Amino acid sequence: MQTSRQLRVESAPGLLAITLARPEKKNALTGAMYEALLQAFEHASLEASIRVVLLEAEGADFCAGNDIADFLAMARSRESLASSAAFRFLRMLASFDKPLVAAVRGRAVGIGTTMLLHCDLAYIAEDARLSAPFVDLALVPEAASSLLLPARIGHARAFAMFALGETLDGREAVGHGLGNAALPADQVSASARLAALTLAAKPAQALQATKRLMREHGRLLAVIETESQAFIDRLMSPEAQAVFQAFMQRGR
Ligand code: COA
Repeated sequence: MQTSRQLRVESAPGLLAITLARPEKKNALTGAMYEALLQAFEHASLEASIRVVLLEAEGADFCAGNDIADFLAMARSRESLASSAAFRFLRMLASFDKPLVAAVRGRAVGIGTTMLLHCDLAYIAEDARLSAPFVDLALVPEAASSLLLPARIGHARAFAMFALGETLDGREAVGHGLGNAALPADQVSASARLAALTLAAKPAQALQATKRLMREHGRLLAVIETESQAFIDRLMSPEAQAVFQAFMQRGR
């Protein structure tokens, strides 16, 4: 299994720990990071000794979403977008059937928030800030979040996140069912790891079967397919290109 410079993958008994490691860019996800994530999840799927995956991030922030320079580069061809590592990763995430535990501090934007909807346990810093401002980015929701976010936190709150760009702090996120505990930031990583190790010691087949019963993988994949078509249309639109150019040129 390869790992990218921007992604650390470590094994502990029963556990694969995946750490986003691009803190200087708030862990914004590049194509290379999605490829490395895909490989790590594929390895975790196939390797029987891995019972649980722990997802965390280096530095103060969890993930500032997709790398916007990558979005600009990707928008050149519809075909390459559809087969991009980012979309393949979303499909992998939605069909992954071992428990996934997240440790979240700081900012989680876009996919940084929507990937949490595929985690089975999440430990979130009280002062974390979760957002999914797809409309401000001239995009639409992805990662099956158009289904999963309203189902989890209610339509009105989900719409306010998507369309008004509203942010939830860690306490609000946990209060609305997006995580298990809101904690001081310095306790998040240890709490998530303890939960992951506790899960890894449970009867493995029952654990996996329980997750499979609780996640409608087929439905999630169908929603991702529908969202992806709309997302690609929006990503290639002049309004999205203008938003991305403005972000890249900030402060210049
Ligand atoms: N893509 C590419 N680079 C990004 C990025 C992204 N999604 N998010 C942050 N960065 C880069 C910044 O350009 C900056 O790079 P620089 O130091 O070379 O100038 C660096 O990461 C630090 O970010 P900065 O914006 O200075 O930090 P901040 O604390 O002021 O703001 C955020 C943090 C997350 C609020 C802000 O970076 C942001 O809004 N990022 C974009 C989030 C987004 O829209 N993602 C797409 C979701 S689909």
